[in-house]
Amino acid sequence: MSDVVPPFAAVLLAAGQGTRMKSSLHKVLHPIAGKAMMLHLLDSLAGNAAGGGAPQKIVVVVGKGREQVEAALAGRDIAFAVQEEQLGTGHAVRCAQAALAGFDGVVVVLFGDTPLVQAATIDRLRAALTADVAVAVLGFRPADPAAYGRIIAADGEIAKMVEFKDASAEERAVTLCNSGVLAVRSSDLWPLLARIGNANAAGEYYLPDIVGLAIADGRRCTVIETAADEVAGVNSRAELAAVEARWQAGRRAEMMAAGVTLVDPASVFFAHDTRVAPDVTIEPFVVFGPGVSIESGAVIHSHSHVEGAHIGAGASVGPFARLRPGTKLGAGAKIGNFVEVKAADIGAGAKASHLTYLGDVTIGAEANIGAGTITCNYDGFFKYRTVIGAGAFIGSNSALVAPVTIGEGAIVGAGSTITADVPAEALALVRPPQANKPGWAARFRAAMAARKRG
Ligand code: UD1
Ligand code: CA
Repeated sequence: MSDVVPPFAAVLLAAGQGTRMKSSLHKVLHPIAGKAMMLHLLDSLAGNAAGGGAPQKIVVVVGKGREQVEAALAGRDIAFAVQEEQLGTGHAVRCAQAALAGFDGVVVVLFGDTPLVQAATIDRLRAALTADVAVAVLGFRPADPAAYGRIIAADGEIAKMVEFKDASAEERAVTLCNSGVLAVRSSDLWPLLARIGNANAAGEYYLPDIVGLAIADGRRCTVIETAADEVAGVNSRAELAAVEARWQAGRRAEMMAAGVTLVDPASVFFAHDTRVAPDVTIEPFVVFGPGVSIESGAVIHSHSHVEGAHIGAGASVGPFARLRPGTKLGAGAKIGNFVEVKAADIGAGAKASHLTYLGDVTIGAEANIGAGTITCNYDGFFKYRTVIGAGAFIGSNSALVAPVTIGEGAIVGAGSTITADVPAEALALVRPPQANKPGWAARFRAAMAARKRG
């Protein structure tokens, strides 16, 4: 962005109670793709920074439940302004004035409950605030305009903005809606805000009223439009689910465009930070928690839940696998059905194909972990590590009581409970010897049948 563009500050409104969410968690902290709504917005602003147009200052207006919001944003370069009473969006922005004392530039107002606004859109809105424009508003046309505020405009020139509650039937029939996002110079914003009243259906100080005042002053106000998916607001759990669905749909499309195969896209759920290389295949009904990266050629089979895991090239996961945080799968490793893995470094080509718990473990390349193997990593107080050497073979139904080390190339006999280290290339066998009693079963059945007959 060139240096003729004025500096900008962002004001994020998050003081509203969000009563329609019926939640003890603050509305703006409800997650979309595993990340609080508010953090999505802050990431967009960070995207503006990446584009060379970083906000000089970010002010978050908090009120009810402010401790929650302040805690969630702790450590960030943000100023908080407090709105003690929630008297409306216009009043909320006014509460940010002191925090922006001395700032002279463009103020972009964003709503904490409208989380998916993109950096590029914020740039576009700032660009729309040309010298002769007082306020630039971001509008959209949702499939169902519901109770959004309406924008009466022709060719981008706003004639009037009206809240749904105050709108006439004719105004309600207008499909252009207010996203809540707007850009206005600080030199216009504060004087305009000082003039708005609350004589309306809600008895609130409406932010959009600055547009009406500017127009009455003979100033121009413009609206630019963006996709409805980007600016749908979250006021209820149903709207939260709808925004989540839109986010997921968008990310699935991006993944496929980038070369990822999604056999049934609608049944795969990504987290905000899931990274997937081209030529990965993801089968139906896979859910990703945060912190996952997958390298090329890996296959995630159906019904797997993957979180905090790095999956190496060509690895195979599932069906019905659960990868928990701290999992690293080497190239070509295989984690099969009903296997749970946590804090595990699994070497290239190692396999745990069935019914196993691998927690706090390091497994060398090409090791084979038999069905039903359990790393007993917890004694009720502390966690301990298991180390399995490269090429080791763990027989089915073995319990490895950590801390314990199985040497490279060692074999553990099926059904063993291993409590001591096993040297490399050794066989460890921990089970009673087998006793066969010839003919015993037939004699037993005959005797019991005779007793039953009496
Ligand atoms: C608002 C707009 C409406 C727009 C819609 C888009 C106003 C008057 N109405 O309506 O035109 O179509 O958003 O989603 O601006 N907040 C405060 N303090 C307050 C009131 C609200 O901080 O006193 C915050 C809320 O936390 C929320 C945002 O402002 O993040 C919007 O408030 P909300 O009550 O949800 O407004 P809407 O009725 O959705
Ligand atoms: Ca809202």
